[in-house]
Amino acid sequence: MVQGPLRLLNRKLSISYENYKLLHISFIFLGLITLGLALLADSKKKWVKIVNGISFLIILVSGMGLMARIGISHGEPLPLWIKGKFAFWGVLAIGGPISVKRFESKKPLIFFIFFSVAVMAAYFAINKF
Ligand code: HEM
Repeated sequence: MVQGPLRLLNRKLSISYENYKLLHISFIFLGLITLGLALLADSKKKWVKIVNGISFLIILVSGMGLMARIGISHGEPLPLWIKGKFAFWGVLAIGGPISVKRFESKKPLIFFIFFSVAVMAAYFAINKF
């Protein structure tokens, strides 16, 4: 049987719901901190970019782990709040690094827009619609 890498990770490491959530939230902190360093403090350091990229990857993987743990499988159509979270993730993970490069001014404003998007992602997980 062909197994997705996440399912394999799930079985081999057997990460619990609680620990997926811990990972999810910890790397949300780190993802937003590094986005803040780039946009608010104008950091051009390489490690900031690398940690930002890795953080958003872990947010995605742990989000999918959480989906598995609360019983949302990939076969059935995804609930709206999950689709929303994928969209918010895309805005932050892809839009973040692009705007660091593109925008010369208004970076603080852009950071707070991204912050609001992250708050929306949390709102969707808490209220589930
Ligand atoms: C940067 C974007 C994201 C942020 C800021 C975010 C934020 C959060 C927060 C704060 C929670 C905890 C909510 C609670 O304790 O009730 C959570 C849970 C969750 N997130 Fe995310 N999330 C993001 C991306 C994603 C993605 C991409 C997925 C799907 C792949 C996802 C799937 C989930 C799931 C399934 C839960 C568990 C809900 C539950 O326990 O009932 N998240 N998220």
